[in-house]
Amino acid sequence: MALFDGLDRSELICKALSVQKHSYAPYSQFHVAAAVLCDSGKIYTGVNMENASFPAGTCAERNAIAHAIAEGEKKIRAIAITGGKNGDNHTYCSPCGICRQVMREFGDPDQVLVIMAKNPEDYVERTLEELLPCSFGPEDLG
Ligand code: THU
Repeated sequence: MALFDGLDRSELICKALSVQKHSYAPYSQFHVAAAVLCDSGKIYTGVNMENASFPAGTCAERNAIAHAIAEGEKKIRAIAITGGKNGDNHTYCSPCGICRQVMREFGDPDQVLVIMAKNPEDYVERTLEELLPCSFGPEDLG
């Protein structure tokens, strides 16, 4: 898609990979990292953060987005996700449904690129619209 032509996927994936070692996942050993590119051009990272009270755990994507919002960002353009059991990124880590909905809050689904990466040379990408069609968003509340 032309909109995403100039987007540096490699930089975003490398940023995610650089923080994946900080993932706190003692219960699942599934270590995930995310790097989100915002309209300002800045990139913010996050990792999953589990908890002894399991439902209190949060995903890497939502933590990266929370990081961006806390710095004053309003819109996201792209997000790279890396992750896997024991930190071995043998699969393309796909964002969970809750994270897709949180991405939806901060971007037009057609204009947000989700990059699921094993490494900077090996990734798949989809628009948020492809991952979360017919979504419910802020506009629906009028
Ligand atoms: N997880 C993420 O952080 N992002 C995803 O896209 C999928 C799942 C985390 C949540 C939990 O800490 C662990 O991976 C296993 O589900």
